[in-house]
Amino acid sequence: MKVHKLSAGFIYFFGALGGLLFGYDTGVISGAILFISKQLTLTKWQEGWVVSAVLVGAILGAAVIGPMSDRFGRKKLLLLSSIIFLVGAVWSGLAPDFAHLVASRIVLGLAVGGASSLIPTYLSEMAPADKRGGVASLFQMMIMTGILVAYISNYLLQDLTFGWRIMLALAALPALALFFGGLVLPESPRYLVRRGDNEAAREVLAMFSKDEKMVEAELGDIELQAAAKTGGLSDLFGPLSRPVLIMAMGLAIFQQTMGCNTVLYYAPTIFTDIGFGVSAALMAHIGIGIFNVIVTWVAVMIMDKIDRKKMLIYGAWGMGISLILMSVGMQLSGTGKFGSYLAAIALTIYIAFFSATWGPVMWVMIGESFPLNIRGLGNSFGAVVNWTANTIVSLTFPPLLSAFGTGNLFYLYAVMCFISIWFVHKFTIETRGRSLEQIEASLRHRKNHLNDAPVAN
Ligand code: BGC
Repeated sequence: MKVHKLSAGFIYFFGALGGLLFGYDTGVISGAILFISKQLTLTKWQEGWVVSAVLVGAILGAAVIGPMSDRFGRKKLLLLSSIIFLVGAVWSGLAPDFAHLVASRIVLGLAVGGASSLIPTYLSEMAPADKRGGVASLFQMMIMTGILVAYISNYLLQDLTFGWRIMLALAALPALALFFGGLVLPESPRYLVRRGDNEAAREVLAMFSKDEKMVEAELGDIELQAAAKTGGLSDLFGPLSRPVLIMAMGLAIFQQTMGCNTVLYYAPTIFTDIGFGVSAALMAHIGIGIFNVIVTWVAVMIMDKIDRKKMLIYGAWGMGISLILMSVGMQLSGTGKFGSYLAAIALTIYIAFFSATWGPVMWVMIGESFPLNIRGLGNSFGAVVNWTANTIVSLTFPPLLSAFGTGNLFYLYAVMCFISIWFVHKFTIETRGRSLEQIEASLRHRKNHLNDAPVAN
């Protein structure tokens, strides 16, 4: 295979770019729906469909596209996702009616789900072990940037009659960039070795390290793991990957049930409560978007310096406590300004903790932990669980909100934060600083010793 010589920065940027479309396509609809609903005269039920169609598509996309990457390579599937993004963006921008809009948003979802099941693995496989956490976190960085761009376009286009069409179609630009960047991106060296193209794998590894000895050592390690033939569901649920499977499922479920998307969704309301006008609340939303990007950048910088497990535990404490303060603030907000300010400050702290910890760490860990012969399948499984949990939380949010009231509902998500601390202690495996091959070797070691008699103390 021909390998284009590129800088590591270029590869990481285009490798992560699909995250921008993920963020944009999920974020843009909150602003666009108000105008779509008026112009296409949608019922509440139809509105719900337009918003959640991407989630449904994402479950399907993650289930189908990710596993194919173990067989056909990460790059080809990334290119396919960029084409689906492009089609979905143009189609949704031109959609004449409700049916077209929902269908096009499901198509967009396929690409969003595909990206989430490919990119964490692709980035993990490209990066040297000591930089892998930071590099793989670029995915979350792109998601947050996409959400910010969506908020800005919502704000700028709110007065145009057909502004929503431009909002939706704008995603075609990064999709095109992803396509052209994707054409020259190298294939993952892990996949190349599995296909027997060790020479191309060596060339790719050499783009990230000038030290020839290191490159040869890494290639040797990869060759050892690459001999296993592509695995299927029986391997995914088998004893070797079981610990990682449990970890991935738990992290994916907790990331959503700790309420990240509901809090983001609720942010403008909380700011309107403090007395911001609607337009000022939307501006505050943009402010939160900028803050998110900055905090995620901090996460990229510290990801390889602090153990992933510690980040998850600190993050869950921070998110749980700030959710409690936010609920208290909301309950007090009727009695004066203090409560509303408390809620707004707690919300900002919650977002900071999420963006610095659970946001990126979950995706990093599901991308790096599975054995090579089922890595695409494993990442994809984690992504499917995450999108399913996301859909359930979104669909249950409105009825739970009317049953419990805003203040009380956020206590429920706080409880999930505290349970996640127990889960992380008990079921996660530390991956920081270890090569993908060392992580896999430790799983094999563990499996081989499963039946050993316990050592007497
Ligand atoms: C989560 C998404 C969320 C996004 C922005 C991602 O890590 O998986 O559900 O919308 O971060 O907060």
